[in-house]
Amino acid sequence: MRCLSFPVAVTAFFLFSLNVMAQGPARLTLHLEEPGAAVSPGLYGLMTEEINFSYEGGLYGELIRNRSFKDSAKTPAFWSLQAGPSAKASMSLDKQGPVGPALPVSLRIDVTEAGVAADAGVGVANEGFWGIAVRPNTTYKGSFFVRSTGEAGALQMSLESIDGHTVFASAEAGAPGAEWKKQTFSLTTSAGFKPTAEARFVIRLKAAGSYWLSQVSLFPPTYKDRLNGNRADIMQLLADMQPAFLRLPGGNYVEGNTFSERWDWKKTVGPVEQRPGHLSPWNYRSTDGMGLLEFLEWCEDLHMEPLLAVFAGYVLNRDHLDAGPFLQPFVDDALDEIEYVTGDVHTKWGARRAADGHPEPFPLRYIEIGNEDGFDVSGSYEGRYIQFYDAIKAKYPQLHIISTVGGKDPLGLRFPAPAGRTEIVDEHYYRSAWQMEANAGQYDVYDRKGPKIFVGEWATREGFPTTNFNAALGDAAWMTGMERNSDLIIMSCYAPLFVNVNPGGMQWKSDLIGYNALSSFGSPAYYAQKLFSTHLGDRIVRLSPENVPTQTQHLTAKDSAAGVQAKKIDALFFSATRDTKKGVIHLKVVNTQGVAQDLVVTVAGVSKVGKEGGAWTLSAKEPTETNSISEPTKIVPVESKVKGLGKTFTRIFPPYSITVLEIPVVTAQ
Ligand code: AHR
Repeated sequence: MRCLSFPVAVTAFFLFSLNVMAQGPARLTLHLEEPGAAVSPGLYGLMTEEINFSYEGGLYGELIRNRSFKDSAKTPAFWSLQAGPSAKASMSLDKQGPVGPALPVSLRIDVTEAGVAADAGVGVANEGFWGIAVRPNTTYKGSFFVRSTGEAGALQMSLESIDGHTVFASAEAGAPGAEWKKQTFSLTTSAGFKPTAEARFVIRLKAAGSYWLSQVSLFPPTYKDRLNGNRADIMQLLADMQPAFLRLPGGNYVEGNTFSERWDWKKTVGPVEQRPGHLSPWNYRSTDGMGLLEFLEWCEDLHMEPLLAVFAGYVLNRDHLDAGPFLQPFVDDALDEIEYVTGDVHTKWGARRAADGHPEPFPLRYIEIGNEDGFDVSGSYEGRYIQFYDAIKAKYPQLHIISTVGGKDPLGLRFPAPAGRTEIVDEHYYRSAWQMEANAGQYDVYDRKGPKIFVGEWATREGFPTTNFNAALGDAAWMTGMERNSDLIIMSCYAPLFVNVNPGGMQWKSDLIGYNALSSFGSPAYYAQKLFSTHLGDRIVRLSPENVPTQTQHLTAKDSAAGVQAKKIDALFFSATRDTKKGVIHLKVVNTQGVAQDLVVTVAGVSKVGKEGGAWTLSAKEPTETNSISEPTKIVPVESKVKGLGKTFTRIFPPYSITVLEIPVVTAQ
């Protein structure tokens, strides 16, 4: 409907204006005479998994790509040999004499002739994840395992431009011995250059000899200076959303394509050099540097609660284990995992967490059994779910368990909710803007006697790599529906969260936050979500809309040929919540059309409405407009003061806009 050509848009405008003139403006009554149901404080959270280079080349701070030389069995991918004309050297992958079981491969460099004078030395350079971001006056911390044939010379580590002509920082290390040694170093850049991602990391070998390198790592300063931590700019974008929880670690990522590629949490904890890493279902390797403890620390840093999805015996190639003794080791693994998260230091896995550096247990209330098990056509989920549910509840009766089937989403509908044991169901929705808007009222009619709903994945899929403003409108309309029903929808999280926007970085079109090596940005949908999550009260305000203008479905040629009749749905979407502590109402209004809309608002059941309030408006000239790495803040909310509020007031909502109005109120209650 909204990708209209100009004449069509003008005609639509006149028809629409006629509609408004004939019927008068839209009206909305806010019912504060009723206490309203409680808003779920956990309504807005985050969903995460290794997809679109979310951690590797994304949130996880590691700058070296293929640090453990496992990305390709044949060549040292993302590494290159740098040798001047007078030097002779070669490099290859080597499985002889590895560092340990998790690092079975190393990079062997044979320097036959180190060269003379100016071009002396041989280097191995890593190109990073589509470049390495280098900033002035910054200290980078690195490490690698190294050994040599014994007679080798000193090493030099440097951050330099891709052509090698500019050295941003360098450091020296003594000649390596014949045994593996972990060498640590730091590189501090000079002042006076522009931040750039056109850089590489080089280890230069200054004398002839054979050298072996393994797990080469380099980190920039991280968020809250965590060791093995996260990229600060992306963490800040997330912090600004004030998310309540983090659904981890997937998604498909928890399942893997095969049993051996599942997210095997025990292999993701402890020293990083002891983590073997694995192939993610999104077809690239994860080092598992972002392991269970790092997920939990990510939660801690952003004051989020972890929502833990446990592997439940089903993998993406449709292999599964039926309930019974063969499934039990996986149930035990889940129990151990919960103990790692929550156990005190006297428990086996709590002690292990303490040894890993975090003696304090983490809070945990929700466990999800698997992911999207509606795909398991064998029908084994009910049995698997019950085996996990009973074991978890027996040991941790306080935990709430989430089923991945039994919801009203297409996958959830394939199987009924496991009988007698379903507290919460996870529903997933990936839709067009039209579908989101057409279904924005779906929860208004849900049965309140059934399980609570966790909308564990949802997104309007328009625009890529990050979505456009039309998607933000669809998302915002959908969020009004979740908010109006946040007694039932206890949690929700958009997916996928991240995408590396470089060519080859995206496996899933339509993502919330984009980045390259140097910078990051939020899509319009990110800002819509931030507006919604940071303006949320504690009580739902019932609304009665009247005279709401409509929009007509735009049919494709295929739809028309199939005789589909265009539907009409509302063009304005609303939700309101009251913050009883602050004494304000957060009224959200979404105008999906290209014409401004008058709205007469009546606040019923209050003693007083303050005359002045605040407004945050996110809007675009065209629905296809978007943010990008080159225009990261083209569409951002504009904050303004609002005057003329009262028990009844009129406000004009701009074309294609998402608005939050903060209205001060005094109620008798
Ligand atoms: O969000 C992308 C994928 O969509 C998730 O991994 C999976 O759960 C869903 O099918």
